[in-house]
Amino acid sequence: MRINKKGILIAGLCGGMIFMQSFVQLQHEEKPTNLKVLPKDISEKELHDVMKGFSKSLGVHCDFCHAKGEGQGPGGRPNMDFASDSKPEKNTARDMMRMTMAINHDYIGKMKGADHKLEEVACVTCHMGKETPTVSVDSLHMPNKH
Ligand code: HEC
Ligand code: HEC
Repeated sequence: MRINKKGILIAGLCGGMIFMQSFVQLQHEEKPTNLKVLPKDISEKELHDVMKGFSKSLGVHCDFCHAKGEGQGPGGRPNMDFASDSKPEKNTARDMMRMTMAINHDYIGKMKGADHKLEEVACVTCHMGKETPTVSVDSLHMPNKH
């Protein structure tokens, strides 16, 4: 059986979260115009699942990475310019996507017996709901066991 590359990419980025996503539709009509990492033919549902996964993994809203656009939408909320690259966080996220794919493809995927997709690294593995992951052992507050 041939492996579906796109499926792996998306599952890898979302981790297990893709299965818990609600089926809320993305509130935008146009097709994506500025995808540099994700497959250009990604469906609206898949794109939305990936974006919800990013937001939950980092504990942020869409506007953490996406710039505001012109005018306001219903309910007085600002329209978003999702295609714009003006927020640096968006390009950082692209590098993070490339890094996460490299970890899964070049290292985890080549480990003996590691063919279980849910054991791949995803944004949440490091971020755990925070913008910046915990990178210090001292901040874990674990009881001293030695
Ligand atoms: C952690 C950063 C991050 C968060 C949070 C985020 N996005 Fe994104 N989004 C991106 C990146 C990066 C891309 C471009 C991906 C690429 O280049 O393949 C993107 C692309 C998109 C696009 C396609 C735009 C185009 O025309 O090319 C849409 C639509 C979108 N995001 C919607 C959302 C929505 C809705 C949310 C909130 C639920 C959200 N995003 C949250 C990083 C983020
Ligand atoms: C291997 C661990 C790891 C994984 C996996 C990972 N990140 Fe990160 N990420 C980090 C670290 C560490 C930083 C902080 C870097 C710094 O600024 O010192 C960071 C920073 C970021 C930032 C910048 C935050 C800010 O405050 O500006 C964004 C955005 C981001 N990551 C998005 C993502 C997304 C989206 C994914 C999944 C595609 C992801 N990360 C996967 C470790 C990771």
